[in-house]
Amino acid sequence: MIKIDHLSTYYETIDGNVPVLNDLNLEIKDNEIFGIAGESGCGKTTLLKTLYDIVEFPLVIGHGKVILSGTKDGKPFSYESGKIRNSWWSNISYIPQAAQSVLNPIMRMKQQFLDSIPRESRKNETPEETLGRVAKYLEELSLSPDLLNAYPFQLSGGMRQRMIIALATFMSPNVVLADEPTTALDVVIQRGILMMLMRLQKQQKNTLVLVSHDMGVHYQVTDRMAIMYSGSIVELGKTEDIFSDPIHPYTTMLVGALPKVGDKSQKVGIPGRPPAFTNPPPGCRFAPRCPHAADCCRREVPRLREIRPGRYAACHLFSEEAEQNG
Ligand SMILES: Nc1ncnc2c1ncn2[C@@H]1O[C@H](COP(=O)(O)OP(=O)(O)OP(=O)(O)O)[C@@H](O)[C@H]1O
Ligand code: SF4
Ligand SMILES: [Mg+2]
Repeated sequence: MIKIDHLSTYYETIDGNVPVLNDLNLEIKDNEIFGIAGESGCGKTTLLKTLYDIVEFPLVIGHGKVILSGTKDGKPFSYESGKIRNSWWSNISYIPQAAQSVLNPIMRMKQQFLDSIPRESRKNETPEETLGRVAKYLEELSLSPDLLNAYPFQLSGGMRQRMIIALATFMSPNVVLADEPTTALDVVIQRGILMMLMRLQKQQKNTLVLVSHDMGVHYQVTDRMAIMYSGSIVELGKTEDIFSDPIHPYTTMLVGALPKVGDKSQKVGIPGRPPAFTNPPPGCRFAPRCPHAADCCRREVPRLREIRPGRYAACHLFSEEAEQNG
C-alpha cells in the first residue's frame, strides 16, 4: 500500500519557492490499477517523483510523508519518504515521463539491464546468468531476447517502451509507477502498451499507478482514479463511477469533453487556464473557470470530503451531502 499523508512539496527557484502539491492525502491499495489525471502542469509528475523518492533539488518536501508498505516473499516491509529508494526495483519501480530519453543511446540494451538490476538481487550470478534470466523474462513477454543486443536507436518507439516496461517489471515489484507511458506513440501501439501493463499487473498481482492526461486511457485501464487540479486532488473514486456520474465540476467538464460513439456534437475544451502556483486565487482554485462558483467558493478552500461511499470531492456544492454522509 502507498499512503500519502498530508504531503506538501515545493520547487526552489531563484524567484522563491513554488508550492506545487498542497496537503495531499491518499491511499493507493495493493493490487489495484490507480489512475492520476489532470491537465498539463497540475503536478502529476511531481507526485510520482515524490512517491518514488526522487526528491532532489529543486524539489523539496515541505510537509508530510509517503509510506510504502506491504509484503514481499512473505516478509513485511515498510519504507517512508527518504528511505523508499532502498527498495527501488525490488519493491517499487518507475517508468518516467518520456522514458525513452532516459536510455543511454550508446549502450546496448543488455548493459542497461545489467546496470539497473541491483547487485544484491543478482544472487551471486555472473552477468551472463543474469542476462539469461532477462532473456527468459523477455520471452515470457513475447519479446525477442535478440533485442538485448540492440542499441536504443535501433528499436522503434513502441519497442523501446516495451523494453523499458520489461526492465521496470523484471523484479516483480509490488508497485509500478508509470508516467504517461503511451504519450507520443501512435494509437495502435498505445493500445498494445496498455494491454502489456494490464497483463503484467494481473500476473504479478502488484499495484500499477498510471499517470495520464488522457481520460480515455483511464476509462480503459484504471480501477480507481484521482483527478488533480492545480496541485490538489479534487475528486477520487472508482473510475467507472467517475465517468458515469462525475461530482466535481472540473471532472464533469473533463468527462463531457470526451468524444462519445454516435455523438456528432462539437466538443470544446475547458475554457480558461489553471492559475499560477505562485499566485493562486483565494478559496477554490477552480472558481475562475467554474460555472457554479458562488461567493463562498472565492473565500474558502474546499476540502476533499467523502460525498458518497468511496467517492471524494473537494467542492462546496456538495457540503450538505458530505455532512449527511458523516
Ligand atoms: N524543476 C522545476 N522547477 C520549478 N518548477 C517546476 C519544476 N518542475 C516542475 N515545475 C512546476 O511544477 C508544476 C507541476 O509540474 P509537473 O511536471 O508535476 O506537472 P504534470 O501534471 O506532470 O504536467 P504534464 O502533464 O505536462 O507532464 C508545473 O507548473 C511546473 O512548472
Ligand atoms: S467549490 Fe465552487 S468554484 Fe470550486 S468547483 Fe465547487 S462550485 Fe466550483
Ligand atoms: Mg508530467
